[in-house]
Amino acid sequence: MTSEMKSLTEERRRATIRTIPQPADLNVNGNIFGGWVLSQMDLAGADAAVRIAGGPVATVAIEAMKFHRPIELGDVISIYADIEKTGRTSVTVKLDVYAERGVERSLHQVTEGRYIFVAIDNDGRPTPLKNSHK
Ligand SMILES: CC(C)(COP(=O)(O)OP(=O)(O)OC[C@H]1O[C@@H](n2cnc3c(N)ncnc32)[C@H](O)[C@@H]1OP(=O)(O)O)[C@@H](O)C(=O)NCCC(=O)NCCS
Repeated sequence: MTSEMKSLTEERRRATIRTIPQPADLNVNGNIFGGWVLSQMDLAGADAAVRIAGGPVATVAIEAMKFHRPIELGDVISIYADIEKTGRTSVTVKLDVYAERGVERSLHQVTEGRYIFVAIDNDGRPTPLKNSHK
């Protein structure tokens, strides 16, 4: 097994979401629409945040976002979520998005961002986190 194949295997193990964008997700430039990847990152971040919150969360802010390269049709997208910080009710999640591309399945970072989620109660108000991420 080459080192690139090994790192791909390790990356797959950590991926929160693996998905394949479809032609309906294209923008007018023929690449994948940025809003598509934003929503996938929101889902991946919320999945990580819910584990810490111990219940539902709402996205309160997107603090940083960088589109490194366009996502192309045929790419297989993996999203990795790392809990960066927790507060009383909020969870900050760093999200890194990679594309596996072409027959050789080369790996490219396409996007990264930092999303903040807040644990909410049944009335949609902020509520303390129930779990620790350590
Ligand atoms: C999320 C929501 C319940 C938070 O309520 P709020 O009264 O604004 O929140 P508070 O001011 O009490 O802050 C709650 C936490 O969020 C953090 N927070 C609030 N606004 C923030 C911002 N713009 N950036 C970073 N953190 C922020 C606060 O620091 C606090 O964290 P802590 O408890 O860990 O210290 C409310 O803003 C809301 O319902 N927003 C709409 C959510 C939504 O529709 N999202 C899209 C779909 S999920």
